[in-house]
Amino acid sequence: MQITENFPLKNYNSFGISAQAKYFVAIHTPEEIQELIHENTIIGLERLILGGGSNLLFTRNFDGIIIKNNIKGIELLKSDTDFYYLKAGAGEIWHEFVLHCIKNNYAGVENLSLIPGNVGASPMQNIGAYGVEIKDVFESLEAIEITTGEIHSFNNSDCNFGYRESVFKNICKDKYIITSVTYKLRKIPEFNTSYGAIDQELEAMGVKELSVSAISKAVCNIRSSKLPDPRLIGNAGSFFKNPVVGKSHYDYLKTVFPGIPAYAQQNETFKLAAGWLIEQCGWKGFRKNDAGVHAKQALVLVNYGNASGNEIYEISEEILKSVYLKFEVNLEREVNII
Ligand code: FAD
Ligand code: EPU
Repeated sequence: MQITENFPLKNYNSFGISAQAKYFVAIHTPEEIQELIHENTIIGLERLILGGGSNLLFTRNFDGIIIKNNIKGIELLKSDTDFYYLKAGAGEIWHEFVLHCIKNNYAGVENLSLIPGNVGASPMQNIGAYGVEIKDVFESLEAIEITTGEIHSFNNSDCNFGYRESVFKNICKDKYIITSVTYKLRKIPEFNTSYGAIDQELEAMGVKELSVSAISKAVCNIRSSKLPDPRLIGNAGSFFKNPVVGKSHYDYLKTVFPGIPAYAQQNETFKLAAGWLIEQCGWKGFRKNDAGVHAKQALVLVNYGNASGNEIYEISEEILKSVYLKFEVNLEREVNII
């Protein structure tokens, strides 16, 4: 294990922000993490566990140690009547794991195709897209407790998954390093095309018979047409979560803004489309220097080249204020601000 000082991070975050880490170490096995802990190398330092860097915004140099998780491996642990149980190392690239499942006809993650980042981060915010979330296929994970080096196992209910939420963003924040995740994939697929755009795309593709591979391709096509490719334009996907409001506030908004998109949730609450709210405030396509708001998706903030993290953060602050002024709705950032 080599610890590097003053490590440049531009190629390690999908926003492409130039920042430096005081110390940087890449780990390839759980034992290497335990070694770092037992030798007191990381205790007392500010720490950041890094996967693919696709849900982070660096607004400063990182004055501690960045631990890049490169633990690899995909293993079929067992199968029962209905499911295959697949364990993947935290450092596996998420979309490559999805492709592995599709190749073997393991069903359940096809709607989550093309989400950037690594397996280890997938439970952090319960990644979701096109009607499916990680919680739907999650069996368990293993994580090392940073203060003790002990290995802990978390099952689905331990993780307390919610919309873009888990225990790792709340009470367990910064306490664990996830080393592997075990997913439960169906032997017989239960296709989910509830997200309207999927059916439309399958039709446009001329698909007659549903398959995990056809759904994956449809999702990839839709995503590529809407979301900027971080290799070309720096971004971290949706910058804010879609806000959830109570019925009375939704009723009020509907009278003033009849076209407002909303999705009914449990307990008489409604999820609003943050992208729509932001677009209505005039932000879509906004650009100041190299920082901006994507022209096709107002929920995605972008770096056209040399924006600083602070320039992007400042735009997000202005967006928060204007959405509140117009709709009395508080947006919450999805992206982790460092
Ligand atoms: P990182 O950005 O490296 O880390 C994210 C957080 O998790 C940090 O707090 C980090 O410290 C922590 N972390 C990472 N790995 C570990 C670990 N092993 N142990 C403990 N903590 C860890 N997200 C969605 O949910 N749905 C989408 O549809 C979606 N679309 C996107 C589209 C684009 C173009 C982009 C750029 C992003 C998108 N995202 C989406 C966000 C992002 O892809 C996910 O949040 C992804 O899971 C982040 O993975 P990562 O490995 O890059 O995490
Ligand atoms: N919309 C606008 N203007 C915009 C963008 C969106 O009016 O600029 C409207 C759309 O017309 C639509 C609604 O907002 O009526 C929702 O848009 P879309 O289907 O594109 O989804 P989203 O809410 O913007 C969410 C997730 C994405 C996920 C997609 C597909 C969040 C915060 N974002 O986006 O996740 O891929 O649905 O399921 O929940 C991410 O988390 O990084 C991410 C990309």
